[in-house]
Amino acid sequence: MIAVTPLALKALSAEKTDLAVFVYEDAGPAGAKALPNPVRTALSAKLKEEGFKAGAKDVCRVNLEVFGHARRVHAVGLGKKKGSGPESLRLAAGALIGAVRSKRETIAVLCSEFPQAVAEGLTLASYRYEEYKKADADTLRSAHLVVPDAAARGTIEKACAKAALVCEAVALARDLVNRGPSDKTPKSLADLAETFAGTGVSVAVIDKDKAAELGMGSFLGVARGSAQPPVMVHMVYKPKAATKKRVALVGKGVCFDSGGLSLKPAASMEDMKSDMAGAASVIAVFKVIARLKPAAEVHGIFAAAYNMPGHDAYKPGDVLKAMNGKTIEVWNTDAEGRLILADALCLAAKQEPQAIIDLATLTGAVVVALGSKVAGAMGNDRRLLAQVLAAGKRADEAFCELPLVEDYKESIKGNIAELLNISKVRGEAGAIIGGLFLQEFVDGKPWLHLDIAGTTFASGDWNSYSPKGGTGSPVRTLIEWLGAL
Ligand code: BES
Ligand code: MN
Ligand code: ZN
Repeated sequence: MIAVTPLALKALSAEKTDLAVFVYEDAGPAGAKALPNPVRTALSAKLKEEGFKAGAKDVCRVNLEVFGHARRVHAVGLGKKKGSGPESLRLAAGALIGAVRSKRETIAVLCSEFPQAVAEGLTLASYRYEEYKKADADTLRSAHLVVPDAAARGTIEKACAKAALVCEAVALARDLVNRGPSDKTPKSLADLAETFAGTGVSVAVIDKDKAAELGMGSFLGVARGSAQPPVMVHMVYKPKAATKKRVALVGKGVCFDSGGLSLKPAASMEDMKSDMAGAASVIAVFKVIARLKPAAEVHGIFAAAYNMPGHDAYKPGDVLKAMNGKTIEVWNTDAEGRLILADALCLAAKQEPQAIIDLATLTGAVVVALGSKVAGAMGNDRRLLAQVLAAGKRADEAFCELPLVEDYKESIKGNIAELLNISKVRGEAGAIIGGLFLQEFVDGKPWLHLDIAGTTFASGDWNSYSPKGGTGSPVRTLIEWLGAL
């Protein structure tokens, strides 16, 4: 992934780098004010000659003499000015990287609006998953945001620094999701979390024995089919200044979901290395949290386990008991996420937080309902929901509320235990049923469940700045939300 740093306009004369300019379809170049008048006129003429219309994500290259050097100037379309915003810039920056990567070492980008979004688009679009193969040698190494004058310096510096932090987190979430399932054991995720311990962050690893002591029978039940022991990890960030605000992030970390004895068909299993994306998001946030410095105390909890068939695997018909004493009849071992989250949510609720957000690739049903660009959001607290939806808007990640319909609770009442892990009414409201089940374990605390099954892993390129594989969503939203607490 490239680094994006500020570069003073004056320094441009010393560098023979390519330039990039964003252009509105109906309002001309944005940020080109920094260019001398004759250059702007020449640029407009050349773009016209090329028939460049500046539609969203169109890229056009022209050659121009700018600041004493003949340069390639890349014009990137933003579409119409009305309705444009940070996401237009992020997408355009992504399109730019798509057009120039592998051709140049560096590029200087002129931008006057939303510099953080531009830096994010440039950085995230240059992300490649390279844990298993050699990095591409012939590729863009860096990009600069041009600082037009001294007054803009601080803003651009801050934007670059914030974007770098956000992208570091997003990249880690992507890396973890993309990694092969056997190479990300629960223990290895716990080991990674432990490396974050230090100033402001503490990490406690709850191993299998400790989990048994704590009564986490639901979580432990799921893990029984695998030779790899499960772990529950509890990270805590404490801000320097004393605070009464306390929140918790809880992630589903199923390192591979085979379905267990209720085995998935082969095709449905293909992407199930991504079933720990909720945990990956929590881990990603905690990698940078001490540098983000949110004002609240933040608890990051993830439950990591494999869901496998095995000689001691939990079975349909088994009854599990969660940490809060509730008993659960397992009808389908493939509805395992809610079972491991049950205990993780109990642990979160015990911290007496004012808000709990859980992140989980919980149901295929949410993908049917909302597709791959919108995640499901459901919870018991309007204020928390509104906060997170607003943070999502600022981060340009989409969420849609699904209702936790009281009447549907009837369908997860157990025959021989208190709860069922799937609905008696097959094929209906699967995402909501998942939410209703989780609600039983939050002890009435303000809580929001984000079902990210559709949004966190993309089988093709997701957009111009998110290549196929892990998208890193909803890390940007979480960072926005924490920053506003
Ligand atoms: N991990 C899956 C959900 C999933 C599906 C994530 C597709 C990403 C893409 C989850 O554990 C699961 O298997 N859910 C079942 C629930 C059912 C058995 C009630 C499902 O959605 O089929
Ligand atoms: Mn499953
Ligand atoms: Zn799963």
